Amino acid sequence: MGTTNKNLVRFLLAVQAAAVMAGLGASALSMDYYGMSCPYTEWIVRGVVSEALRKDPTLAAGLLRLHFHDCFVQGCDASVLIDSTDGNTAEKDAPANKSLRGYEVIDRIKEILESQCPGIVSCADILALAARDAVFMAGGPYYRVPSGRRDGTRSNAADTVALPAPVLNASTLIQLFGSHGFTTQDMVALSGGHTLGVAHCAAFKNRLQSETATLDASLAAKLGSTCGGDSSSATAPFDRTSTAFDGVYFKELQERRGLLSSDQTLFESPETKGIVNSFAANPGYFFWAFQQGMLKMGQLDLKEGDKGEVRKKCSVVNPPPTW
Ligand code: HEM
Ligand SMILES: *[C@@H]1O[C@H](CO)[C@@H](O)[C@H](O)[C@H]1NC(C)=O
Ligand SMILES: *[C@@H]1O[C@H](CO)[C@@H](O)[C@H](O)[C@H]1NC(C)=O
Repeated sequence: MGTTNKNLVRFLLAVQAAAVMAGLGASALSMDYYGMSCPYTEWIVRGVVSEALRKDPTLAAGLLRLHFHDCFVQGCDASVLIDSTDGNTAEKDAPANKSLRGYEVIDRIKEILESQCPGIVSCADILALAARDAVFMAGGPYYRVPSGRRDGTRSNAADTVALPAPVLNASTLIQLFGSHGFTTQDMVALSGGHTLGVAHCAAFKNRLQSETATLDASLAAKLGSTCGGDSSSATAPFDRTSTAFDGVYFKELQERRGLLSSDQTLFESPETKGIVNSFAANPGYFFWAFQQGMLKMGQLDLKEGDKGEVRKKCSVVNPPPTW
């Protein structure tokens, strides 16, 4: 082989390596990160999630949403888990926290992990693994989650402006997700997370008033009665199989039964309608695209090295060292 050829091969190998790194966000994350330091990590997470979902299958939605809210605000650093303190109102207590659920599951996992391997497994990794297990146990795809995220030390209610509002249209969602490196297909697939769970009336009431043209009449009637009177705590499911991770969410968008404006807009906008139709026709394709999206989402704005820590208790940042 001539030198030119050798250099070409070297170049191609480098390109390939770079592509593999890019697939992992070129971050410090890796599969089997806790293989030596805390080998039963994934097994413990799965056990606690499984037990929790057996008692309350609706918690799958809560666990998935916690990971999303964590990653979209200041990166995947478990900032969503930090409690407010005297001088600081944390993300948890922002209006956008709206009914986040599943904190107790994360705390239970952390408690067991701390007893087995103290100070090793980050809360941000626990969130990513628990979300993956919840999706799988609800009938969704299984995908491998690289670990090594570090926990952040900042959690500020004001930072939750980074979260998408339920009234955004498709173009704005494409822009917002695009600013984090997501494709339009990633965004539509991730919105499919709404195949699980429920929303409160405040999040979709606007559809009853101003979007009747794109809202199925029988669903409108049903939501109207759910949200009449004092409805501040009333909820409606995103789709008719709200504890099953499946493609029904996209079928319902085609039937104009999307719950939030940000759901229905995906079918109404020419930019995203084709993707909704393919996901509705082929749930396997949705599952595949969802995994791609989750892999990216789980690596948003990671804290590298000394910019992060492994929190001892997920709801409080570690005390400063005493030396
Ligand atoms: C596309 C932009 C998104 C918007 C505007 C949005 C908005 C919302 C809103 C308003 C709720 C209901 C909150 C309540 O009223 O209690 C909700 C619930 C939920 N969201 Fe999203 N979301 C988006 C993307 C996502 C993503 C990417 C995921 C995960 C991959 C996700 C997972 C969930 C889940 C599972 C629930 C149900 C939670 C439960 O039942 O406790 N959402 N979302
Ligand atoms: C979410 O924020 C509201 C205030 O907007 C607060 O009353 C509620 O306790 C918070 N929920 C959690 C789980 O922290
Ligand atoms: C989407 O929303 C943005 C911001 O409110 C607005 O400027 C834009 O015109 C909307 N696009 C469509 C297609 O309605």
